[in-house]
Amino acid sequence: MKKIAIVGSGLIGRAWATIFASSGFKVALYDVAPGAAKAARAHIGKNLKELAGHGLVKNPKAALARIRVADDLADALGDVALVQENGPETITAKIALFAEMDRLAPKKAILASSTSFIIASRFSENLPGRARCLVAHPVNPPHLVPIVELAPAPWTDPKVVKRARKIYEKAGQVPILLRKELPGFVLNRLQAVLLAEAFRIVGAGVASPQDVDKTIRDGLGLRWSFMGPFETIELNAPGGIPDYCARYGPSLHEMVREAPSGNPFGPETVEAVMADWGGAKSAEEVAALSNWRDARLAALKAHKRAAKKKPR
Ligand SMILES: NC(=O)c1ccc[n+]([C@@H]2O[C@H](COP(=O)([O-])OP(=O)(O)OC[C@H]3O[C@@H](n4cnc5c(N)ncnc54)[C@H](O)[C@@H]3O)[C@@H](O)[C@H]2O)c1
Repeated sequence: MKKIAIVGSGLIGRAWATIFASSGFKVALYDVAPGAAKAARAHIGKNLKELAGHGLVKNPKAALARIRVADDLADALGDVALVQENGPETITAKIALFAEMDRLAPKKAILASSTSFIIASRFSENLPGRARCLVAHPVNPPHLVPIVELAPAPWTDPKVVKRARKIYEKAGQVPILLRKELPGFVLNRLQAVLLAEAFRIVGAGVASPQDVDKTIRDGLGLRWSFMGPFETIELNAPGGIPDYCARYGPSLHEMVREAPSGNPFGPETVEAVMADWGGAKSAEEVAALSNWRDARLAALKAHKRAAKKKPR
């Protein structure tokens, strides 16, 4: 089975290690912070147990045994098919890490970044091995939410993209392809528009943040867990997508055209949200809520795995 290197063992790195190890890959885990990769491995053990509890991993002990903590970056990259980079979200960190990874990784290894917003051409342009670099952006927590956005630079070899897609599919993820580079890719751009409107609605005193959350949780989000926006609107008008746009397009256009230009995430709207929210959560409360979310997501993932396929 192929070997994978995980560089950076924080929130996202350890989830990637969980994914690859539980689907049979051997994983080398590296982090620049002393002791971080070892601590991450313990955390991964918990992730694997939880997945096993939902029937999503067969043998959590064997999966954990496939993960080793590397001594340094060179040790992590030895003999790997793919490197998944999960360092800090700054352009300087990505440029430095990709330069090192390109110098040390075997020539055939794919170099993929988990970056949330930075396009691959910004950190790979001057590298001798730039044809093997791309973005593979996951969503938190990646071991429970399978989407991976593959976003190659203009010079990324299409064969590299194809090989990367196969590896992520083998690991149980759901890759999508960006045909052009776009900062923020698809998911975060969709999320940005939704969040901007949510902040504007609360900031303008139209609805409480709790009611906005209910609108997604008990409204739009129910369909979105198994169908996308295009699949959704196709069923909302007898003539499908063109009919939907003919009926509702003018009203939708009116709303998006009217969107104010100010920063929806500025201090005033944040204050309006927090006035209703009831204060910031403590670290313990955040941890408890994250555990609850992960358990719900694992149950949903198991349900989706067992669910009947969509008719054609
Ligand atoms: N947190 C999210 O929701 C999320 C979702 C998708 C993608 N991402 C992206 O994933 C990446 C990692 O995010 P995170 O949330 O895991 O951050 P994090 O802060 O939890 O982890 C970053 C880790 O990288 C390590 N690190 C720093 N410099 C390093 C180096 N030179 N070599 C090796 N390790 C190094 C740090 O010690 C730390 O453990 C970012 O690019 C982020 O944008 C994050």
